[in-house]
This record gives sequence, C-alpha cells and structure tokens, in this order.
Amino acid sequence: MRQNFVAGNWKMNLTLPEAQALTTEIVQELREEQPSQRPQVVICPPFPLLMGVGQLLGEGDNPALGAQNFHQKDSGAYTGEVSAKQLQSVGCDYVILGHSERRQHFREDDSLLAEKLKTALTAGLKPIFCVGESLETREADETFDFIGQQLAAGLFHLSQEEFGKVVIAYEPIWAIGTGRTASTQQAQEVHAFIRAQVAAAYDEATAANTTILYGGSCNAQNARELFSQPDVDGGLIGGASLKAADFVAIIKSF
Ligand code: PGA
Repeated sequence: MRQNFVAGNWKMNLTLPEAQALTTEIVQELREEQPSQRPQVVICPPFPLLMGVGQLLGEGDNPALGAQNFHQKDSGAYTGEVSAKQLQSVGCDYVILGHSERRQHFREDDSLLAEKLKTALTAGLKPIFCVGESLETREADETFDFIGQQLAAGLFHLSQEEFGKVVIAYEPIWAIGTGRTASTQQAQEVHAFIRAQVAAAYDEATAANTTILYGGSCNAQNARELFSQPDVDGGLIGGASLKAADFVAIIKSF
C-alpha cells in the first residue's frame, strides 16, 4: 500500500538507556496526533535494543518496530547471527535490506539479498529495500542503468503479491551521512524512474501503489521540500533520527 512513511535507521548507535529516552520522547511528541493522521513511522534500532524500544512504542502498528539486518537462514549453527523469525517474535514488522553499508562492508550482493527477501517475507517481515548509486556511478552518468540493475536483480524476482509488501528506499551513497542531500529534482527523477521500472516489471497499478522513500542526509530543514515531490513518499532517516525533535519534525513534514 502506498502511504506517507518515515523510518529511522539508528545504525550502530545508542545504548539501551539512551534508546529508551529517545523513544519515550518521540512517542510523547507524536501523542498529540491520531495515529491515523500521521505517516507510518518505523524505528529501527540495533538488535539488543529491539525489545526495550518495542515495549515503549505502545499498542498498534504506528510507530512500528523494524530491524536493520538478519541472516537468510531460518535457524541453525550460525553463531552470532539473528533470524527473521526471531525478529518477528520480538515485535518487528519491518526490516531494512540492501542498505549500501551492508552491500559495501558486508559484501551483501544481489543474490544474497534476493534470498534474504524471501526469508523476510516468509517470516512476515516487510522489507525496506534500499538501492542507490555511488558518486562515481553518478558522475559517469550511469545512475539509471545502475538502479535499474539493482531493482531487476534484487527485487523483481518477487511475485506481485510479495512485491506488494515491499517499501523501496532510494539512497544515493554520496548523500548518506555526508550532509550532501540529493536535490529535490535529482531525488524526484530517480523516484519517477523507479516507479516506471516497477510498472514495467509488474503493472501501472502496482507502481502507483508502491511506497518509495528518499534517504541520504534528509533532515528537519529539507524534508518538506523532498516529501512534496510527486514520487517521494517519505524518508529513511539516519543521523537525524537520533534526535527526537529532528525526527518528529521530519514526521510532521508532509
Ligand atoms: P543519513 O543516513 O540520514 O545519516 O544520511 C541515511 C541512511 O543511511 O539510511
């Protein structure tokens, strides 16, 4: 379902007390608004903090809890790993997949991501699937080819029904954590391209129903302009999700 949507990716930040203080502040500030009137909000803490944060989110599915990663197998001898079912059992509804930091530092490639997508969906988790080009790719004028390839290899093997549970995030690598945001025009043109690719792979109705987020130095100052673009449905927020006032201002930017 296409909806206004803001997800906070806390990455490897915060201790449990810090995370609980931040969550309490976010929940309090959102309390004035009816859950039905706000965008879908998802908070993605590191694994050990999931339950402690989830307990503070209250009843209902907005804000929802999300994870940042999991292992592709259901269970077994994979010391140190976490399964999708385990995440689901501690209250996660969403999981981030294909983030450029996982692709780059942990060598997650398209075939692994395709496998992980299936595992997530089987466990009942909704994937937030990230795509995005490097600066080198953008400067070589290969952004659209590159994103098209990431979508085709990582995502479009899903059935139409499975695909309907996926949220896509466009995160240009050169904009992540750099303070350098894509211009509204750069974001809009890639989002429109992604939506057209979805229409070609499935159909127009599926494309019109797909939630596509922008990520990369999105903050309380630039969110409103980015979210006003016709194909930008919200944001995947890193640094600015670690401060309650900034994150809530972004949530209120529609
Ligand atoms: P940023 O991170 O907002 O800190 O740039 C976004 C992300 O990596 O999801």
